[in-house]
Amino acid sequence: MRQAGRSLPEYRAVRAGVPMLESCRRPELVTEITLQPVRRYGVDAAIFYSDIVVPLAAVGLDLDIVPGTGPVIAEPVRTRADLERIPELHPDQLTHVTDAVRMIVAELGDTPLIGFAGAPFTLASYLVEGGPSRDLHRTKAMAHGDPDLWHALLRRLAQISGAFLRAQVEAGASAVQLFDSWVGALPADGYRGLVAPHSAAALAAVADLDVPRTHFGTGTGELLADMAAPAGVDCVDVLGVDFRVPLDEGARRARAGAGRALAVQGNLDPALLLAPADVLVRAVREVLAAGDRTPGHVFNLGHGVPPGADPGVLQRVVDEVHAWTPARREVGHPVA
Ligand code: CP3
Repeated sequence: MRQAGRSLPEYRAVRAGVPMLESCRRPELVTEITLQPVRRYGVDAAIFYSDIVVPLAAVGLDLDIVPGTGPVIAEPVRTRADLERIPELHPDQLTHVTDAVRMIVAELGDTPLIGFAGAPFTLASYLVEGGPSRDLHRTKAMAHGDPDLWHALLRRLAQISGAFLRAQVEAGASAVQLFDSWVGALPADGYRGLVAPHSAAALAAVADLDVPRTHFGTGTGELLADMAAPAGVDCVDVLGVDFRVPLDEGARRARAGAGRALAVQGNLDPALLLAPADVLVRAVREVLAAGDRTPGHVFNLGHGVPPGADPGVLQRVVDEVHAWTPARREVGHPVA
């Protein structure tokens, strides 16, 4: 569950007075925050505490993560000269990340760590807009209006994204997730022509490392077949499905796109965490039942945890999932 930690009092306590990006640069703190939801909820995997803009900061871009807003870029990227300010990412710029991954993996024991990166389109959307945006007009205007500049920008971002994924896996992460959170702003033909080859390049950066790769976006119902094998490249093992598409239908679209069965991840609507318990539990069981009709299912929310979510409610969700899958859990996590 992305950003599951931020609804926890123990997270707020250790983050007090430490800005988000600064917290991502302190391996001991990253380790503590990554472990908090695992300790509290007993979830089956940890997600690395960092952010999709951390590798952009690592190459020297001036940006901040503003509480309640998200990433804000000091000088937005709009021209060829702006693009030239973005260097390639080299592993030696990520020692704070790899130190943290090693510490976490040592603490986690058998529980897997999921590493991640932002996909080129979603990273570009922050860089071009200068911050979060509802409609991504400037981003789409650049993509269509200056395709040479756009593709050059996405090539650079695919290198950065791929290098960030690779560093995490080489330091011990057992799976990766590529977040293309905002790519649902495009229609399928736009996705194919403007985005897919670059997402494939980012995922291909860990092709030889033998880790499962999850590809995630929101509002992507029309894109699922393409996201299952972007640019026709076989680089996705698990396809994220948001709450707008039933999981079994998502699995059908994934198979149509990839030409083979993929597992799916999702897709409880995070809004239901705020609904009465009986409504929530019924919805969790519906997701689990739909997941049983797919080739493989990773339970998750359809998007991130709202900051105001009640930790007790999240515990209830985790317990419902575990009650549904005792046999499968034993395969992954033998009980001593
Ligand atoms: O759960 C985790 O802590 C895992 C680490 C993680 C974070 N961000 C930490 C974070 C992950 C996997 C992300 C990914 C991320 N960051 C995405 C892709 C996933 C998705 O949700 O779509 C995106 C689009 C971002 C950019 C970003 N960073 C946003 C939109 C926000 C939220 C802004 C807000 O306050 O509403 C952030 C900040 C952020 N990243 C927080 C955390 C824990 C909240 C910081 C805080 O206020 O404590």
